[in-house]
Amino acid sequence: MRVAIVGFGLIAEQGHVPAYKARDDINLTAVVDPVTARRAAALRKYSNIRVYETFSDLLEEYSDEIDIIDICLPNALHVENVKQALAANKHVLCEKPLVLNKTEYNELVQIASQRQCILYPCHNYKFAPSIVHAAYLINSGEIGEPLFASFNIFGVGFQSGVPQWKPDWRKDKALAGGGIMIDHGLDAISVAQTLFGGSPQRISAHTRSLNEPDTQLEDLAIFCLDWENKLINISLSSIGSIPKASYRIQGTEGEISIENNDVFLSVKNKPVQHIFVPTYFDDPGHSNWYHGLIDNLLDCIKTKNTEPFPLMEAGLVLDIIEKANYSSNNGGSWMPLEFTAKSLQLVG
Ligand SMILES: NC(=O)c1ccc[n+]([C@@H]2O[C@H](COP(=O)([O-])OP(=O)(O)OC[C@H]3O[C@@H](n4cnc5c(N)ncnc54)[C@H](O)[C@@H]3O)[C@@H](O)[C@H]2O)c1
Repeated sequence: MRVAIVGFGLIAEQGHVPAYKARDDINLTAVVDPVTARRAAALRKYSNIRVYETFSDLLEEYSDEIDIIDICLPNALHVENVKQALAANKHVLCEKPLVLNKTEYNELVQIASQRQCILYPCHNYKFAPSIVHAAYLINSGEIGEPLFASFNIFGVGFQSGVPQWKPDWRKDKALAGGGIMIDHGLDAISVAQTLFGGSPQRISAHTRSLNEPDTQLEDLAIFCLDWENKLINISLSSIGSIPKASYRIQGTEGEISIENNDVFLSVKNKPVQHIFVPTYFDDPGHSNWYHGLIDNLLDCIKTKNTEPFPLMEAGLVLDIIEKANYSSNNGGSWMPLEFTAKSLQLVG
């Protein structure tokens, strides 16, 4: 499959490109970026690709040589560029968040379906090895019936983009579309969905903008999801000084704890098992997570599955984020969620 990347920034260079380079079923043929230094960075990795300043130039000149458009742009630019790619009948891989609200989401899902193109959001935490392993342990019944999970994702400020464009675009509400919920919140919800399947019924949330009050973007969020008889508690913070993510799941028969590359399985009356699963949450590119994701994308293209699982999940995430804001503005009261498990069972 021939791929063109639109937006050659941090995640394109450190996440997507190393994964593409390691595969023989993907051929990167073109890159679009308005910044000369970013096009030069792309040419340093692949000397024989075409580079363009605008997406329209690429589509005008080189469209026949592309099967998949890979959108790695800042969040608010996704929707228009995805539309342009679908209008050219291309399959689309799009970085997360796919879009910023449910209206944009519904519109893109409809266009992709009409065009019979695969629209695949990069929900790469679903493919993080330690998360996949924990899902396997839960599905094998190792901890009995899961009852409770607590995820703590603590970061240091909002992540910067490449220095040659607008490194602080995540602090600009018009470009970012949201704060920590749309960034790490999306990942945490995707992890919960991978571990437990189905979907939550309601949410209670508290969000705050502590270090960035002028931006009106939340940098602290604590929310609880009532998820088919389980309670999932998620704490997200970017106000700290040491980045750290941990995931803990308790069931009727035992417990799983994930700390970066270490998975601990503790089953009643048995010694604790330590399983080393190389995952590297602290690597900003997570390039080894993209292989499972690309395999799934290529499979969807092959089987003409226009409802890839992460596309359904993107709708769930937008509903949760919208209701988290309502809940937080209403003292943390429970808000019902509209996205049902049924819609998440459309695809395997
Ligand atoms: N899945 C993950 O783990 C993960 C990690 C980091 C970032 N992301 C997502 O990837 C996206 C990009 O983030 P980033 O950190 O790489 O940003 P970045 O700022 O490093 O890169 C953005 C790039 O887009 C280019 N650009 C700007 N306007 C453009 C246009 N109109 N056409 C073409 N190129 C244009 C910029 O020159 C820059 O090179 C965001 O949506 C972000 O949420 C995902």
